[in-house]
Amino acid sequence: MKSINPTQTTAWKKLEKHFNEVQKLQLKDLFKKDSERASAFTIAWEDFYLDYSKNRITKETRDLLLELAEECDLKSAIDSYFNGDAINQTENRAVLHTALRAPADAKITLDGENVVPEVQEAKEKIKKFSEKIISGEKKGFTGKAFTDVVNIGIGGSDLGPVMVTESLQYYQNHLNVHYVSNVDGDHVQEILKHLNPETTLFLVVSKTFTTQETLTNATTIRNWFRKTAPQEAVAEHFAAVSSNLKNVEEFGIAIENVFPMWDWVGGRFSLWSAVGLSISLAVGYNNFEALLTGAHKMDEHFKTSDFKENIPVQLALLSIWYNNFFKAESEAVIPYTQYLHRLPAYLQQAIMESNGKSVDRNGNKVDYQTGTLIWGEPGTNSQHAFFQLIHQGTKLIPADFIGYKTSLHQDQDHHNKLMANFFAQTEALLQGKSKVEVKQELETQGLSKDAVRKLSAFKEFDGNKPTNTLLVNKLTPESLGKLIAMYEHKIFVQGVIWNIFSYDQWGVELGKQLASNILAEIENKSINNHDSSTKSLLEFFLK
Ligand code: F6P
Repeated sequence: MKSINPTQTTAWKKLEKHFNEVQKLQLKDLFKKDSERASAFTIAWEDFYLDYSKNRITKETRDLLLELAEECDLKSAIDSYFNGDAINQTENRAVLHTALRAPADAKITLDGENVVPEVQEAKEKIKKFSEKIISGEKKGFTGKAFTDVVNIGIGGSDLGPVMVTESLQYYQNHLNVHYVSNVDGDHVQEILKHLNPETTLFLVVSKTFTTQETLTNATTIRNWFRKTAPQEAVAEHFAAVSSNLKNVEEFGIAIENVFPMWDWVGGRFSLWSAVGLSISLAVGYNNFEALLTGAHKMDEHFKTSDFKENIPVQLALLSIWYNNFFKAESEAVIPYTQYLHRLPAYLQQAIMESNGKSVDRNGNKVDYQTGTLIWGEPGTNSQHAFFQLIHQGTKLIPADFIGYKTSLHQDQDHHNKLMANFFAQTEALLQGKSKVEVKQELETQGLSKDAVRKLSAFKEFDGNKPTNTLLVNKLTPESLGKLIAMYEHKIFVQGVIWNIFSYDQWGVELGKQLASNILAEIENKSINNHDSSTKSLLEFFLK
């Protein structure tokens, strides 16, 4: 991929000038002036309907942002991404999670080898294994069918699977699926206390099989299991997903229960691989496959659509517009379905581990903003929590609103209320409430002139708060696959334009190194040299 400083492009310079002209524009005026505004800024694709008209942009803004994408050579970067070039340059790896959802007859070559057949082989293994566990054909060491599955992993080996399993709860079978991630022993014990070793299957999911949290949790769980189960039972009750076969074998997991991982799949983009085994167990292989199909459809849309009609490209460009020109620091993601309650947490890793970088692709410190902070909670709960700050706080927080036309349990009364809130919030964020409107409202309530004067400043809403509205027909495995892939590609586009490497994560290493030094000090009860704060804290902890 080329290394282009975005701020040195002609498009960026034009955008700076343009920003000075349009930054004060009011969304409600833009809507008043152009009755076609909604349709001009809407992309309808398959079962997705993205309305991004409630953004502080004009058609010229969009054109200039598209020019920026062209100038940063996004087109050829997309080709490199899908073709398996080593775009993760600091680790000299390809980034091919898209190959995990490619059709069986696709050809994706890496170092002269088509990777699709081995992906298909792994999928076949996931299918057979899932079917045997779900049907009860494969049994535990006392001859009972499995009732519970525990996924032991962290980061990408946890967040994607847990988010998808929660999101697809409606499609879930009889298996209870649990997730242990934190090295906090209380997390492990709280899960174990409900489990019967005779009927529980454990999946140790770690690409590297060196992650402290996962190995500690897996060892604790194996010890707990061995209290009632014979050694040979470990092979039947434990499976692993990893690219480190040596460490897996050392742990005692039978080779036929090991599922592959590849170095060309990043942890945070791995739910489509055997890392998603818990998903396949929870909802059945066919639903897992439908998730992949959805993601593949989004891949095709992203790869082949004109940038103007391209959902991930438009979302990425809007995010850059707010981050780099309006200097907005964060973005909210608000799903109007309880099923997606772990989506923001999943996106925090996907987005912030990818684009939380401050060195460009030439190895120089950047002098512009990169990765945004991402946060959110489902609506309507979040309306009663942090929405006050979005409406009336001092920060600009662009937000994605995700809603569904149909509810899964078909309770129309609830769904109408949920969706009325969904539409009302983006409208309120756009419109705000003027002083005149507030005054009128208070007067009709019969308040005195003095009370009206005192209260109106507090009740006024500036409005002009940007939102994207994504309306999807129904939450299905396929539409969920599309949604996740949409954000994955948004991340990619932003990384390309910010001229950073999105697929490494060196920033998490320092903390790991220091933790291992400190652990030795804690175990030996001997504190080495630290800053005075860390030293006193350790002394207090050990006292
Ligand atoms: O947090 C760093 C990280 O390397 C993530 O990128 C990854 O998803 C996670 O740790 C878990 O890694 P592994 O699957 O190798 O245990």
